[in-house]
Amino acid sequence: MDARRELPIAVLDSGVGGISVLRELVRIMPQENYIYFGDSQNAPYGSKSKSEVLELTKKNLAALKERGIKALVIACNTATSAAVRVLREENPELIIVGIEPAIKPASEICEKPRVIVMATALTLREEKFKSLVNRFWGKGEFIPLPCHGLVELIEKGDLESDELDEYLAKLFAPYKNEKIDGIVLGCTHYPHVRSMIAKHFSADVKIIDGGEGTARHTKRKLLEAGLLRDTSSESDGKIEIINTSQDEKMIEISKKLLYR
Ligand code: DGL
Repeated sequence: MDARRELPIAVLDSGVGGISVLRELVRIMPQENYIYFGDSQNAPYGSKSKSEVLELTKKNLAALKERGIKALVIACNTATSAAVRVLREENPELIIVGIEPAIKPASEICEKPRVIVMATALTLREEKFKSLVNRFWGKGEFIPLPCHGLVELIEKGDLESDELDEYLAKLFAPYKNEKIDGIVLGCTHYPHVRSMIAKHFSADVKIIDGGEGTARHTKRKLLEAGLLRDTSSESDGKIEIINTSQDEKMIEISKKLLYR
C-alpha cells in the first residue's frame, strides 16, 4: 500500500473562502485527512498583482510540503489564475487541482442564459478567465462583475449584516430591471453569503459555484493515482485548520463556516 494515502490533502485559500470547497471535499471524501491553510494575513488576494499572488501561493505551498501532503487543492479562483500553471511545472510529483468560475455549468442552465459572473478583479482580468469565457461565448452571455470589498466583509465573519445587504444592493442595482438567468460565484468566499445574494434576485435565478465540481475532480485525480484513503476499513479523517493571521478569531470563523 502506498503510505502517501494517509497524508492530508492540502486546501489553500487567501483566507476563509476555501472552506466552501473544503466542505464539498469532506462531504464526498469524509475518510480523507485535510489540512486547510488560510492566508488571512495577506487577504484579499484579488486586489494584488499577479506576481504578488504567485509568490504568496508558492510560499504557502512550500510550507505545506514541509508538513507532507499528497495533493494540493487551490481553493481560490484568484490564486488558481495567477499560479496554477507555474505550481504544476515546479511540482510535477504533486496532484494540484485548481478552481475556476463555473462558466460551463452556467452555460447549460437554459437556452442562451444571461449570467453575472461575480469574482475578484484579478480573476476577471486574467487571460485564463478570458479564454474560459471565449470557449462558452455564444452558448450564453457572461457579464463580469468585480466585487471590490466583498471578501473583506466575509473575512470579518460578516455573513448577514445590514452593511453586507447594502453592499449587495448597490452592487446589483444596475441589473435590477434586466433579464438575468444565473449567477456564478467565481470566488470561493462568496458561497458563504449565497442566501444574502439570492435575496436580491427572483427565486428562479440559478446561483452556481465551482466547489462541488472541484471536489469531484480531486477525488478522480486521487483515484487515478491510487491515493484515495480506504473508505471501508478506516474511520473519518482529521481536519486541521491553520491560518497565517495572528488573530485567533480566523480559526473560529473558519470552523463556524465549516460546520454550519
Ligand atoms: N477566495 C478567493 C477566490 O476564490 C480570493 C479572495 C481574495 O483574497 O481576494 O478568488
